[in-house]
Amino acid sequence: MLTLQSLNTLDRDAFTQTLHFAFELSPWVVERAWDARPFASVEAMHEAMMAVLDAATTADKLALIRAHPELAGKAAIAKQLTAESNAEQASAGLDRLTPEEFARFHALNAAYAERFGFPFIICVRLNDKDSILKAMAARLSNDEASEIAEAITQVGLISKLRLFDAVTH
Ligand code: GUN
Repeated sequence: MLTLQSLNTLDRDAFTQTLHFAFELSPWVVERAWDARPFASVEAMHEAMMAVLDAATTADKLALIRAHPELAGKAAIAKQLTAESNAEQASAGLDRLTPEEFARFHALNAAYAERFGFPFIICVRLNDKDSILKAMAARLSNDEASEIAEAITQVGLISKLRLFDAVTH
């Protein structure tokens, strides 16, 4: 486990390398939050990272969203994801779908990608197969700005759980 105390002593590069896993293949979020150190708590550190996202351009937000794998997608089935993503998808049973459930994910992933041009993001560790499928169907009728905002909210939940797993708090 990492400690807040040790994280507060790291230079920008070491801080970024140590915590890069919090945001999927997007170390720039952690790197920009370093400016707000020292952090009084893990919660405060995570809030600084969310403030980075709040201040980010739409293009940067979209790049972060697009860095996430599709749920039960081809890469997930082939276990070609980051360690965090593999574990997250397994936690909701997405690695053990029936052929019917798999077909449903495939259809909703395709419809969502067709409508928005980025992958559907939900914090899978706080959901199960059924709540994920329901949310996918419901969120298809949102407008683009609301879906970008919701995706970033969900990235906040994903990253908070990743940080809380790794840093004593
Ligand atoms: N894609 C959609 N939701 C998630 C999630 O919770 N974790 C990861 N890694 N990718 C996702």
